[in-house]
Amino acid sequence: MQQTLSIIKPDAVKKNVIGKIIDIFESNDLEINQMKKIKLSSENVAQFYAEHKNRPFFTNLKDYMTSGDVVIIVLEGENAIIKNRTLMGATNPKEAETGTIRQRFATDISQNAVHGSDSETSAKREIDFFFPKI
Ligand code: CMP
Repeated sequence: MQQTLSIIKPDAVKKNVIGKIIDIFESNDLEINQMKKIKLSSENVAQFYAEHKNRPFFTNLKDYMTSGDVVIIVLEGENAIIKNRTLMGATNPKEAETGTIRQRFATDISQNAVHGSDSETSAKREIDFFFPKI
């Protein structure tokens, strides 16, 4: 069993599709291990997305990710990392395959409905970031 971190981002939360997205995870044998709905601070976003801090879209990313509540989910299942990324579809919803979460629910490349860890190393870092072990 593998774990991965998913974030349902502010645009999807505002569209009231949290349940529809969770249904896609559960229908594809991904279980919810931990989950919380929170509002991120700019500091949270700067730390979480540290690798993107020099990208031109970083200020936009911070504004967007702090614009409303997000749902942070630890998903668990066989090949959870790649499975979640397949279910999400491409970063740019215009390039996302039909039926993927981003194709169905994303607004555009910046406001793209969901985040998913891209490797085992980032999954561990991202899960520890939001659900630190006591
Ligand atoms: P995510 O997979 O969470 O990782 C970085 C985020 O930056 C990405 O989703 C988008 O929300 C956002 N972003 C905005 N513009 C771009 C871009 N041009 N390329 C990649 N990511 C972008």
